[in-house]
Amino acid sequence: MTLNQTSLPKHVAVIMDGNGRWAKARQKPRRAGHRAGVKAVRATVEEAAKQGVEVLTLFAFSSENWARPEEEVHSLMALFLEALRREVDELHRNNVRLRVIGARELLNPGLVKKFGDAEEKTANNTGLLLNVAVAYGGRWDILVATKRIARKVADGEIEVDDIDEARLAAEMQLADCPEPDLLIRTGGEQRISNFLLWNIAYAELWFTDVLWPDFDAGEFHKALQYFAEKQRRFGQTGEQLAAAEC
Ligand code: IPE
Ligand code: IPE
Ligand code: MG
Repeated sequence: MTLNQTSLPKHVAVIMDGNGRWAKARQKPRRAGHRAGVKAVRATVEEAAKQGVEVLTLFAFSSENWARPEEEVHSLMALFLEALRREVDELHRNNVRLRVIGARELLNPGLVKKFGDAEEKTANNTGLLLNVAVAYGGRWDILVATKRIARKVADGEIEVDDIDEARLAAEMQLADCPEPDLLIRTGGEQRISNFLLWNIAYAELWFTDVLWPDFDAGEFHKALQYFAEKQRRFGQTGEQLAAAEC
């Protein structure tokens, strides 16, 4: 099934939640849920590319997830390495550009190196841009951008009064991307959990009880369908939009 292109989101962001509960329901360790989640990532990336979505941003590990038991953090980091090793060639073949966003300085240097290699390898691909958020927090992103701006002021490059939304946005992790049009969260919770706070100001939000390892193309279509039916008003009235369409 291919959906109507005119109402397709350019940028889809996903909070991939529910791996632990998926594993628990099967009397398996939490890491088995994370492992099962990789399959859903593959399906989602493939479907996003197939539908013509331009940017897909996946929340893989939050700034707050460092507070999980050491063993779980460790198994997640090991899984990122393994997934990179297994998936990057296929992503490259499919013309996907991979990019990691988040506080790299907090990650193991070996993993950071592999992230860099994968980014370099896929840098010139012209298909889907896949952002993977690791050690990422929306507040962290805003904070880093604010510090960069403050430094420019301190260095005399810009004046305080030159700071506007565009300048701040230009210092953020997704500066070169259109804002997410659609935010999907699996796993039943209806919260943002410190994901892209700045960028989702006007995103349509879609929640599903489906646990991340069970997410597939069919479920993704439901989200795209929901999006297609929304009138995005950006503060204007429905009448204004109707008039502008004529
Ligand atoms: C999401 O699944 C993956 C990460 C946050 C890394 P969870 O591990 O949060 O799964 P639940 O919410 O405990 O089921
Ligand atoms: C959000 O899931 C983070 C990721 C999916 C990476 P969490 O499971 O960490 O969120 P909370 O703690 O339930 O809000
Ligand atoms: Mg969770």
